[in-house]
Amino acid sequence: MPYRLITGDPDPAEVRRLTFVPFLPDGRCVLLPGPALPAGVVRDGEHYLLDASLRLPDLGFRAQRVHPFARDGDHLYVWLDGDRVDDRPGVLVVDADEAAAELPVVRDALTSFRTQTDASYYADNVRLLEPAYLRGTTPQAGSGFGGDAARWRSRRGMIVDGVHRDGTFLDVGCANGLLMESVREWAAERGITLEPYGIDLAPGLVELARRRLPQWADRIEEGNAIDWAPADGRRFTFVHVLLDAVPRARRADLIRHGLTLVEPGGRLLVSHYALTPEPAGEVLRALGFEPAGFSGSTTAWLNV
Ligand SMILES: C[S@@+](CC[C@H](N)C(=O)[O-])C[C@H]1O[C@@H](n2cnc3c(N)ncnc32)[C@H](O)[C@@H]1O
Repeated sequence: MPYRLITGDPDPAEVRRLTFVPFLPDGRCVLLPGPALPAGVVRDGEHYLLDASLRLPDLGFRAQRVHPFARDGDHLYVWLDGDRVDDRPGVLVVDADEAAAELPVVRDALTSFRTQTDASYYADNVRLLEPAYLRGTTPQAGSGFGGDAARWRSRRGMIVDGVHRDGTFLDVGCANGLLMESVREWAAERGITLEPYGIDLAPGLVELARRRLPQWADRIEEGNAIDWAPADGRRFTFVHVLLDAVPRARRADLIRHGLTLVEPGGRLLVSHYALTPEPAGEVLRALGFEPAGFSGSTTAWLNV
């Protein structure tokens, strides 16, 4: 079958080979000497999106999203949206437009990547994160985290530094609800009482969070961070949003909308989930919001 552009995901049983075009947020892409594209074979029992695309390519590149854009029989071409790449010998990090001028596959990938609609971005989030988290065997894995409880606290614990009083806490993108539980616990250690709420885009994760946290089942809803608002119009003392939940071009809209969910005297807590080198406070400043405080590089907050 000839190489052709596609939309949508092919049947996993039909995909045996993968070629990757990894993109970085700064407009560069990651190639091998040649220049050549990283590629590999899907192993028996592996799912091409959930397993093979994370195992391959071995470039020291962290992919956040995986998106098929072309195929040729059982050979699938996917672009990867990543947050960073390690410095490794033999790995080229080059301007994506320059690579596209030389390699037609990079040109096709770049067009698909740059013209992705918001709806397609959100659909990618659900179809990649939901099955991956649902098959997690630890509470951390059910929130997309690859470490144990101690590492979870060291990576997510700074969110509670923005909590300065008793009140309600809404986690936007709550996955299996672990952060709702954790922030309540970490705040309690500081003598602060929080009542947690959560929303998530993925229906299967909302169901999982309700099952894990039956005492808060009626506080967990399905919704998109970009526009969800509670039916009763209530506001929350603290609202936590993830910069990773929306396309980069929609980040300012995410922050503006998040602020509308916070009650006066409360705070919008903003964090990165991805291990990106951009401090959250700098991201807010670049979007025109002056942070009232920050903790480490992952978390910053705005007063309301
Ligand atoms: C990495 S988990 C975050 C867990 C926890 N809130 C934290 O910050 O540690 C990301 C979650 O955000 C959800 N998500 C992604 N995009 C979203 C969006 N646009 N609106 C709501 N939830 C979204 C995913 O389904 C996933 O469950």
